[in-house]
Amino acid sequence: MAIQEVPSLLRLFNPQYAADPYSFYRELREKSPVYYDKMMRSWVVLGYAEISSLSKGNRLSGSRIESFYEQLPDEARAEIEPLKNAIADMMVFHEPPRHTKLRGLIRPGLTPRFIREMRPVIEELTDELLDRAAGRGRMDVIHDFSEPLTRGVIARLGGVPDHAAHLLERWQGLLFEFFAQSRKEIPRVTALREIFDEGAEERRAGTGKDFFSQIVAEQLKDGDFTDDEVFANLLMLIDAGQATTTHLIGNAVLALIRNRDQLELLRERRELGTQAAHEFLRYDSSVQFTTRVALSDIDILGHRIEQGESVTLVLGSGNRDPLKYENPNQLDITRHAADHLSFGHGIHYCLGAALAVAEIEIAVSRLLERTEGLRLLEDRPEWQENINFRFLKGLPVAFEPIH
Ligand code: HEM
Repeated sequence: MAIQEVPSLLRLFNPQYAADPYSFYRELREKSPVYYDKMMRSWVVLGYAEISSLSKGNRLSGSRIESFYEQLPDEARAEIEPLKNAIADMMVFHEPPRHTKLRGLIRPGLTPRFIREMRPVIEELTDELLDRAAGRGRMDVIHDFSEPLTRGVIARLGGVPDHAAHLLERWQGLLFEFFAQSRKEIPRVTALREIFDEGAEERRAGTGKDFFSQIVAEQLKDGDFTDDEVFANLLMLIDAGQATTTHLIGNAVLALIRNRDQLELLRERRELGTQAAHEFLRYDSSVQFTTRVALSDIDILGHRIEQGESVTLVLGSGNRDPLKYENPNQLDITRHAADHLSFGHGIHYCLGAALAVAEIEIAVSRLLERTEGLRLLEDRPEWQENINFRFLKGLPVAFEPIH
């Protein structure tokens, strides 16, 4: 197959394809699970086995912020420099040993004990939001439920005080803004930095009361972390933890409404909650791909990826690879799918995975417990125009509340 005969992944910007990227991935995968996408100027990897093998070891690097930056026009570059500086120290853009150090700031804190402590916070918020919607018998799953839920969780996790919680509203993702060459997010990042600086002394002294201060307390005592590094990785939690989970919950509810047998099964068998959360992640993830840069020449399936070239790992395609999962296009909450690729693979494996799974599980199971006859108010909910993130614009539903 000649390289140019394979269509570009950019076709997914067409709303017709965006409604079902998975058929398009299958078409591409069947031609070649690895190909060079001229329009994306990147290698595209679609097979589960190829994505997971490339994500392991040190052949690919996540250090891509400088190359993103260099591709921008001069004027945009100067304008968004403050945003670049705020995100440059995020762990996801670094490789060992720097990555190990930065991840080590947060990792020891996100323990199973911490997740247990967060559960009542998630449950309380979920119930409050469902109480509010119950009287109306309808709500927008994204705007009235999953978005305020994940925002509340991240505000608590990040130690953002109530008076500043509005700063987290409608958070789409800083990298998204970076690519859009938008200065829009600079003021709120600056405001968050001011709040962060106010608590810096207490945090360093180990006397900060909020969750974030407690998470980093030990590491700040022992390690040498600059304030820029600590702030960037707080922003990393805020950025990576919000819209991803908001929209995963939206995609899960849509999948259940469209697969009624699975909805009823989950209502009957609550013990399947965590397993179902992983199946929702496999079936229709809010994050469809991640990018890397080749650190050396790589030979794969008869292709040569050259050092310095960009590589796009299409996680959403690997999740539907029939060589890995039987009947991959079927939602099946009894499937053991925790090895899906939606949290990435290798050293950058999502640090918030356990928290995200708890949020998805609690939100979906409480919604099913508290409602009957859950149905769509729009037959075809619309998707945002973004091929990296699979985000619904909204998800209006109606239901009969159960008190
Ligand atoms: C990394 C997906 C929720 C924090 C990642 C990566 C993916 C991902 C694909 C790897 C990125 C890469 O390799 O380039 C998701 C999805 C989520 C979710 C689909 C929700 C359904 C969360 C939450 C948090 C979080 C709730 C924290 C509160 C992080 C962090 C990293 C990360 C800190 C960087 C890890 C590293 O570079 O070592 N996530 N995530 N994520 N995620 Fe998540």
